[in-house]
Amino acid sequence: MNVSDAIDSRMSCRAFLPTPVPEATVRAILDGARRAPSGGNVQPWRVYAITGTVLADFLARVRARLPANPRGEGSEYEIYPAGLGEPYRSRRSKCAEDMYATIQVPREDKMARLLHFARNFEFFGAPVALFFCIDRQLGPPQWSDVGMYMQSVMLLAREHGLHTCAQEAWSMWYRTVGEFLELPPELMLFAGMALGHRDEQAPINRLRTDRAPLEEFATLRGF
Ligand SMILES: Cc1cc2nc3c(=O)[nH]c(=O)nc-3n(C[C@H](O)[C@H](O)[C@H](O)COP(=O)(O)O)c2cc1C
Repeated sequence: MNVSDAIDSRMSCRAFLPTPVPEATVRAILDGARRAPSGGNVQPWRVYAITGTVLADFLARVRARLPANPRGEGSEYEIYPAGLGEPYRSRRSKCAEDMYATIQVPREDKMARLLHFARNFEFFGAPVALFFCIDRQLGPPQWSDVGMYMQSVMLLAREHGLHTCAQEAWSMWYRTVGEFLELPPELMLFAGMALGHRDEQAPINRLRTDRAPLEEFATLRGF
């Protein structure tokens, strides 16, 4: 697989098979992604990977707390700015509409949407859960470095025949994640990520999201 194929075939997988992923594969992916660049080479990423009974225990803990906290525990950062403006607002809602269309859930069916959203908190059935954290003393440039590490993980996963879904949704459970992983106080959870084998039969995985054309965001001069 070349880089273009890895980039093009990466998608947010929201239904996984339970097939386990060997530790060696997870290590190879997390290790390979170390070559991601970071400003000043500060390498601000911290990652935790859990699977098997550890993941089952974690999910059981979240499940037990869901009824009392249907909207999670709040979040340590704003996932989107309040009053998200255009064109971002429209892109975001189009993406959600396209996703729910794959599973034939109309806008009015709030319960079905909620139930699908709750699948985030099962890692969409993935056998491996990753959590990406950053030291609180670091700022926006280092958050972008963590993003580069995450993209490297997602592309290397493709090379291993695996799929991923990055999940900011986990920031809504930052207390439980922090307690379970015994995160030191200086670490802040950015996002989770599901990792595993894609369920090829699942309609939700048929979503191919839009992208704005190059002309909309790139300016080239002097060529
Ligand atoms: C940092 C980050 C966090 C995300 N969080 C979630 C999430 O919590 N739940 C989810 O279903 N998708 C999540 N996504 C997936 C995006 O919705 C997805 O990347 C976008 O719609 C483009 O689709 P594609 O990944 O299939 O190309 C996240 C993506 C990124 C990069």
